[in-house]
Amino acid sequence: MSAAGDRAARYLDLENAPFTFPGSRILVQRADGALTVRLAEYERPLDECVLVRTLRVYTADGRVAPVTDVLPDRIEFADAGVTLTFDGPSALSLGGGGRWSVELDVPSLADAGLDAGLWRPGLPSAATASWSAVGADDLLVRGDTVRLSFSGSSLRLDIASGASADGASADDGRADVSHVRALAATAQVWNDWFARCPVVRDDLADMTAFCWWVLGANIVTLPGRGGARAVVPSKIGYVGLWQWDAYFIAAGLRHGDPELAREQLDLAFGFPTAAGQLPDVVHDDGVLASSDDLPPGDRDNLRRAGSAIADPTAPIPLTKPPLAAWALRALEGRVDDPAWFERAWATVARSQDWWFRDSDLDGDGMPEYGHPYSSGLDDSPVFDAELPVASPDLAAYLILQDDLLAAHARDRGDRAADAMHRERAEATLAALERMWDDEAGFFRSSGAGHPLAAQTAVSLLPLLTGRLPGRIVGRMLAAIDDPERFATPFAVPTVAARDPDFSPERMWRGPVWINVNALLVEGLAVSGHAERSRALAEATLSLVIDGGGPHEYFNPLTGGKARTATTSFGWSAALFVDLAVRVSA
Ligand code: GLC
Repeated sequence: MSAAGDRAARYLDLENAPFTFPGSRILVQRADGALTVRLAEYERPLDECVLVRTLRVYTADGRVAPVTDVLPDRIEFADAGVTLTFDGPSALSLGGGGRWSVELDVPSLADAGLDAGLWRPGLPSAATASWSAVGADDLLVRGDTVRLSFSGSSLRLDIASGASADGASADDGRADVSHVRALAATAQVWNDWFARCPVVRDDLADMTAFCWWVLGANIVTLPGRGGARAVVPSKIGYVGLWQWDAYFIAAGLRHGDPELAREQLDLAFGFPTAAGQLPDVVHDDGVLASSDDLPPGDRDNLRRAGSAIADPTAPIPLTKPPLAAWALRALEGRVDDPAWFERAWATVARSQDWWFRDSDLDGDGMPEYGHPYSSGLDDSPVFDAELPVASPDLAAYLILQDDLLAAHARDRGDRAADAMHRERAEATLAALERMWDDEAGFFRSSGAGHPLAAQTAVSLLPLLTGRLPGRIVGRMLAAIDDPERFATPFAVPTVAARDPDFSPERMWRGPVWINVNALLVEGLAVSGHAERSRALAEATLSLVIDGGGPHEYFNPLTGGKARTATTSFGWSAALFVDLAVRVSA
C-alpha cells in the first residue's frame, strides 16, 4: 500500500469503517466474532440486505482464524494464510495457499439450488448472489450453514444485479491465480486513489488519508443512471446522491479528483423539475423531488413522529438549501470546461428563480421552507412549529447565491442579469435584517408567520453573506463566545446550550455538524474575522481527529460521536479534507 493507504488503514475497524470497494454495494463488517456481508441500497435497512450472515475462516486444524489485519484492499486471516479481497465491484474473493476452510451462515438455504459448487440463495433484494467454490475438497451443509474446506484454492462470492453466476470449475490452479489477480487489481485501484490524496500538514495527514479513503469507499455506481459514480453520504445509511451533500463532497474531492467532483454536480444538477427546482435526492430508480416520491419507510417514520407532512393533501416539493452556486464556484479553476460551467450556471439560476417564484409561500418576497427536508436540518426545533418556515439560513444562502450569480453575469457581460441578481440580493438582505431581534440578540426564524423562540445555529449563518452591519456581527460573536449559547466544550452546537430544546445527542437539536462549522468558518472570514475563522477551522479539525473520525454529527459536550450518528460520513470527510488543505496552505 501507498503511504496514505497505510495511514488510512489505522482507522479500518470493520465497524465504523466497513470493508468495501469504490463502485461496489458490498459491505463487509464485523458481527458476532465473525464477518457479515451486506448490500448498500437506497433507503433499505442493511439488515434487510444480508448476503452472508456470518463468514468464518478456519485453520487446517479447525480453529477459528481471527481477522489479523484490515487494509483498504484486503482483510487478512494470517493464522490460516487466507485473504479476503474484491474481484471488481460485484465480487469478493477469498483465497489462501495452505489448508483452510470457510463457514458461511446464509439467510436462506431453502431457496438455494445446490449444483456443482454453485449456490444461488434467494435474496431479499434486486440483486442476485452466487458463490463459486473453486477446488473445494469438502462440503458440509448443516441447516443454514455451509462449510467448505480447501487446499490451496478459493471461494468467490459474486454479487451482481440480475447477473447470472458462472458455474464453478474444479480447476484449483486457476482459482489461486484468479485470487492473486484480484488482490493485485484491488491494490492497484486503491493505490491510484491514494495517489490523489491531498498533501497536508503532518498532524492532519493520518485523518486526511482516512477521510480520503471514506470518499473513495463511498463511491457507488448507479446502473439506473448510466453507471454514473455517486459519492454517497454513507454506504451505512444513505445510498443515493443528496443534493447538498453533493455540494460539500465536491468541495473536498476537488483537491484530488476534480473530475469526480464535477460528476457529483452533474448528477445533482441533472434532474431539475420543469419549474427549475432541484431534487432533494437522486438515486438509482428516480429522484426525491416531492412528498409523492417519499419511500414508504420514510413516510412511516414521519407518520410515527406525528408529522402532518407524512400524508399532505397536495404534494410538497422537496429540495435542499440553495448552495448550488457555492459548490459551482468551488470548482472554478479546477475543471477546464467553459461550456459545462455555462450549462451549470444556467441550471443554478433557474433553481434560484424557483425559490422566489414557487417557494415564497406567503407571498411576502422572502421564500420559505415548505418542508423540513428542504432545509437539510430535518429535525431542527425551528420545524416544531407550523410550516412554512422563514429562516435566516435560507435568506443567507439566497443572498450568497444571488451575489454569485450577479458576479457570473458580470463576467459574461450580461448587465441585465447582473442588475436583477443584485437587486434581488438587496431585497433579501432587507428581509433578513427584519428577522434580527435586537433585544434577544439573534436572527429569528418564524413558522407560519409567527416568530419562533428557538435559538439555533441557523441564526449564525447570515455571517455567510459578509454583508451584515458590524454592530450585528459583534452581537453574533458574543453569542458564539457565550458558554450558555454556542461556546459548548465542543463547538458549534446546532442549538444554543441554554435553549429548552437543546439536546446533545439528537440530530440537529444540539450536536455539532461539520458542514455548519465549515460554513461558519467561511462566514467569519468573509465578515472580517480571519483569526476567528482560522481558530474554528482548527477546532473543527481537532474535533474530527479526537472524536475518532468523520462521523455524521458529534456530541457538543463530550466531542464523541453522537449515538445515532452514522460513521464514515461523506461531507464530514470531504470538509475535513477541504479545511485541512486550507489550513496547510
Ligand atoms: C439527513 C440530513 C440531511 C442530509 C441527509 C443525507 O437527512 O438531515 O441534511 O442531506 O441526511 O446525508
